Amino acid sequence: MKNLNVEKVLDVHHWSDNLFSFKTTRSQSLKFRNGEFLMIGLPEEQTRPIIRAYSIASPNYEEHLEFFSIKVPDGALTSKLQHLVKGSEIVVSKKPTGTLVIDDLKPGKRLFLFATGTGLAPFISIIQDPETYEKFDQIILCHGVRFIQELAYRDFIENQLPQHEYIGELIENQLVYYPSVTREPFKHQGRITKLINSKQMFKDLDIDGLNPEHDRAMICGNSEMLQDISELLDNAGFEISPKIGVQGDYVIERAFVD
Ligand SMILES: Cc1cc2nc3c(=O)[nH]c(=O)nc-3n(C[C@H](O)[C@H](O)[C@H](O)COP(=O)(O)OP(=O)(O)OC[C@H]3O[C@@H](n4cnc5c(N)ncnc54)[C@H](O)[C@@H]3O)c2cc1C
Ligand SMILES: NC(=O)c1ccc[n+]([C@@H]2O[C@H](COP(=O)([O-])OP(=O)(O)OC[C@H]3O[C@@H](n4cnc5c(N)ncnc54)[C@H](OP(=O)(O)O)[C@@H]3O)[C@@H](O)[C@H]2O)c1
Repeated sequence: MKNLNVEKVLDVHHWSDNLFSFKTTRSQSLKFRNGEFLMIGLPEEQTRPIIRAYSIASPNYEEHLEFFSIKVPDGALTSKLQHLVKGSEIVVSKKPTGTLVIDDLKPGKRLFLFATGTGLAPFISIIQDPETYEKFDQIILCHGVRFIQELAYRDFIENQLPQHEYIGELIENQLVYYPSVTREPFKHQGRITKLINSKQMFKDLDIDGLNPEHDRAMICGNSEMLQDISELLDNAGFEISPKIGVQGDYVIERAFVD
């Protein structure tokens, strides 16, 4: 386990039958860029731990780490991980990585964050980073889920963050939250892709449509969703960042496609 730190669970919050978040201690030596992911798992005495990739949902200035997780009933890791309680131990890799970082975006005015399901996780970190608000005038966070109950972090984004002691004013003035639901009635209904294609999202927000001259985007969700939104942006004239360290008009998590 020389590449893994052991961390203690500080808090667990269940959002629904299939989603939960948890906070852990953070080794002082762990440094990361907001939007990156780590490998995490449960310490096993007899065998090697089963580890899986997890985006860090907390911003890098916090003393703790936070993760937002699915519960897959027969999933090798999450069938057990969902039973974490305060005081449980998890293992966390020492080397964060990932391509969902704002450094790899060209300068722009508006930043679109497109997420489905637990793909929201890296953006919870990014929207708490003051640098995001220095680099962009407006940040539009779109979160697509199946059911209203899966709109995790909704109250945090809408009500708690604007009251934040240090970044509350930035959130209030520059962050726009656009939740959408596919499988029950909701004010914004349908897949994110449909809401963009029909221009309904832009009408709802009273903003201009996507423009590569000043818009930038980050995408996080399942591989089909990554592909569909990438295609939509490509068709609108956006250029993807081809690899870590090279700027583009938009970024995706390459661990998913490579
Ligand atoms: C770069 C990267 C970052 C990731 N970050 C997160 C994260 O922050 N939170 C998170 O919950 N998962 C995340 N995942 C997925 C995660 O690594 C695991 O797949 C997940 O924890 C399930 O593990 P498992 O062993 O229980 O089931 P697995 O055997 O890994 O998965 C079983 C099946 O469940 C489905 N599934 C897996 N993960 C998800 C999910 N998140 N949402 C919907 N369906 C899913 C898939 O159909 C998969 O085939 C990430 C994956 C990658 C590659
Ligand atoms: N850093 C990272 O890369 C990272 C971090 C966290 C999570 N993830 C990944 O994010 C994914 C989350 O799962 P999920 O998105 O499948 O969640 P989900 O909970 O299964 O689906 C959420 C929503 O996405 C919609 N959707 C599905 N396919 C779509 C598409 N092609 N275009 C637009 N919307 C689509 C669904 O609509 P319908 O109801 O119509 O199906 C549903 O409303 C997982 O694959 C997870 O591993 C990645």
